[in-house]
Amino acid sequence: MLNDLHSIKDLAGDEIEKSDSLRQVQELRIKYLGKKGIITGRIKSLGAVSPEDRRNYGQLLNEVKTYIEDLLCRSEKTFKAAELNRTLQTQRIDVTLPGYFIPPGHLHPTTQVLDEIVDVFTSLGFHVEEGPEVELDFYNFEALNMPKDHPARDMQDTFYITDDVVLRTHTSPVQVRIMKNNTPPLRVIAPGKVYRCDADVTHIPMFHQLEGFMVDKHITMSDLKGVLEVFIHKVFGTDTKLRFRPSFFPFTEPSAEIDISCVICRGAGCSVCKNTGWLEILGAGMINPRVFEMAGYDPEQYTGFAFGMGIERVAMLKYGIDDIRLFYENDKRFLEQF
Ligand code: PHE
Repeated sequence: MLNDLHSIKDLAGDEIEKSDSLRQVQELRIKYLGKKGIITGRIKSLGAVSPEDRRNYGQLLNEVKTYIEDLLCRSEKTFKAAELNRTLQTQRIDVTLPGYFIPPGHLHPTTQVLDEIVDVFTSLGFHVEEGPEVELDFYNFEALNMPKDHPARDMQDTFYITDDVVLRTHTSPVQVRIMKNNTPPLRVIAPGKVYRCDADVTHIPMFHQLEGFMVDKHITMSDLKGVLEVFIHKVFGTDTKLRFRPSFFPFTEPSAEIDISCVICRGAGCSVCKNTGWLEILGAGMINPRVFEMAGYDPEQYTGFAFGMGIERVAMLKYGIDDIRLFYENDKRFLEQF
């Protein structure tokens, strides 16, 4: 009976010795010490051993069990260490390899230029207001001295929602909305989206404008000129010249279109400025007394100026971009340049 245990011990020792993988060792663990294993079986049948032999037999059985257990543990450890070594060798991380580059992205050029323009005017004491993009015909036209049959309405191809509601064609309606709810002095800029049913290299159905206006007693055209000069010099450089050209808007009187000396040829004449040396940048004028009346102001008491510019247009002039549609195509090759 004891011999049986001795030969189990020898066999197990032999087998564990010869095993050449962790899996084999684990299989041997099951074979000897598992639920249905050889040693486990002997322990279970200990009760069948005669009482006089049980003591010696049990003791040896315990020794054999501990012996096998030790061998298994040692062997498992060896194989695990070898395996770890192997992974460390094959999966070594080279900390000197350059990392993956994740492009950080940046603000859209329209937003960049808008932010820059807003900064210039806020530094002059203007504050930012907004108005609705879906606007009443009243604010978009009527209150700006453009009654229903006014020919100037044709200048702006309007998207009508209903007879009385439009997508605003310019940011000028914000002038009236702000004046109606505030008393002078006012120094306001109103940036935002505007809509016109129009599309070619210089026109798109939705673009951005920035309206600016100042209302107080004794505001004159020279205030307008001073403010615009600061703006142009900050955005285009101090060597950029300004020119006021007589023009017409129903909501300003007198009205002007403002040109800047060509940013490409500096006034010498080139294809961008069509050899004139000048580029048109914005519309402006002294607020028409009729608009003051519509807003509930006394035109005898107050004067003011207003101007409006296209943000994309400013960006195009600033960066020499010749197609406005580029701003909305989301072509990374274009956007990455800003
Ligand atoms: N609203 C005009 C336009 O969209 C621009 C403008 C604004 C002109 C304010 C004069 C005064 O063309």
